[in-house]
Parts: sequence; structure tokens; C-alpha cells
Amino acid sequence: MKTGKWITPLAVLVLILLIGGWMLRPDYSRRNYDFLPDMAYSPAYASLSANPNFPDGKTEQRPVPGTIAQGYPPFHYKATPEDARRAGLELTNPFPSTDALALQRGATVYSIYCQACHGATGAGDGTVVQRGFPPPPSLLADNARQIKDGQMYHLITLGQNNMPSYAAQVMRDDRWKVILFIRSLQAAAVPAAPTTTNATTTATEPSAK
Ligand code: HEC
Repeated sequence: MKTGKWITPLAVLVLILLIGGWMLRPDYSRRNYDFLPDMAYSPAYASLSANPNFPDGKTEQRPVPGTIAQGYPPFHYKATPEDARRAGLELTNPFPSTDALALQRGATVYSIYCQACHGATGAGDGTVVQRGFPPPPSLLADNARQIKDGQMYHLITLGQNNMPSYAAQVMRDDRWKVILFIRSLQAAAVPAAPTTTNATTTATEPSAK
């Protein structure tokens, strides 16, 4: 009996809701009534439009002096031999030689941006050189083997003599990855040490054709 006495009020309530719902007949395709919408509709300024809320009247504000864009830490080196050597001492390749994906990416970057001059094997016999561009030294030679990763990064970033800067074409990570690839070319050429010198001599042959 105790539960039974709730049945009637409950039935009445359900009935009121049903009848009320039928009378109001809400249109579900329309927005509900906004009671105190607060900030639901904030007036947005387009980035290049005028804006009275800022002292300079512009919407797009300048970054705070000293702001560093994400992924672009400053490169505190000048295009001088001293700074190139300093980069060699201070910077290390963030990618280990065991990173197969990085190496693969390095190979791609090399074939796109470096091979034209340095040649597929790094011997310095690329197609551009075969058509008269001053040949770069072989990347398999002792000199290139001894250049530290950081100095190579400096060289790719700022250029050196006839080698232009590749900062605009090759992204930072890719510069390190291409260095990995150059190291792998050098490592592959190690067992055949005498042919390293041959490679530099054969490098001039194609241009003689
Ligand atoms: C336009 C031709 C050209 C292209 C393209 C080029 N280089 Fe070079 N590279 C040179 C020349 C020329 C030198 C010699 C610079 C010098 O005399 O100081 C050189 C030197 C180097 C050296 C130093 C070699 C040594 O023994 O001193 C490295 C390392 C190197 N380049 C890496 C690269 C990488 C990595 C790329 C691709 C991102 C690249 N280069 C693209 C022409 C080129």
C-alpha cells in the first residue's frame, strides 16, 4: 500500500508533462531560447581588422620582444670559420646513428638537395659539377670525415665559399638527418680505403666525356 500511494501523483505528473510537451510542440530543428547568453556570442575581430581595444588600434599584436617561435631556437653562430669550429664543439646530432627512419629521411634529403653537386656516393661528381660547377671536395675524404657534426650543421645552415646556405630549403631536423646519411656513406666507404682516393680521381672523368 505504501508504494501504491505514489502511483496517482506520478501518473498525473507524467500526464502533465505529456500534455505540456504536446501543447508547446518544440521545434527541435531550432535553437533553444538563450537565457542570459553571457559570452556564448563573443564579437570576434579578424586578425587584420582595426581594433579599438589595443593601444595601437590593431587586432594582431606583435610578439613580445625575445619571443622564440616553437621549434626555432636561435642559432647563435655567424658565417665565420671560428664560429663553424665552435659549432662543431658545441652542437651534437640529436639523432643517433641507429635511427633508421632518420637515416632514410637523410638519404631522401641528400638525393634532393645535395646529390646534384656532391654526387650519389659523395665523391663530389654530381651532375652540376659535370657541367662546370667548381667541384666540392669528396665527402668520403679524410677532411670531411673529420668535420664534426656540429660544424657540418653550421656549413649546411650558413653555407661556406661555393657551397650555398641550405637553411631555406632543408629544415633543421632534416639537416641533422642528412649528416647521418653522409656519415653512413663514409662508413660504407671505409673498408675500401684505397678506392676513396680513386673516387676523387674518377670524379673528374665524367666531365672529360
Ligand atoms: C651547388 C652545389 C652544392 C650543393 C647543392 C651542396 N653543396 Fe655541399 N659543398 C659544395 C661546395 C662547392 C663545397 C666546398 C665549399 C668550400 O670550398 O668551402 C661544399 C662543401 C660541403 C661540405 C664540406 C666538405 C669538406 O670536406 O670540406 C659538406 C659537409 C657539404 N658540402 C654538405 C652538403 C650537404 C649536406 C648538402 C645538401 C643539403 C650540400 N652540401 C649541397 C657544393 C654544394
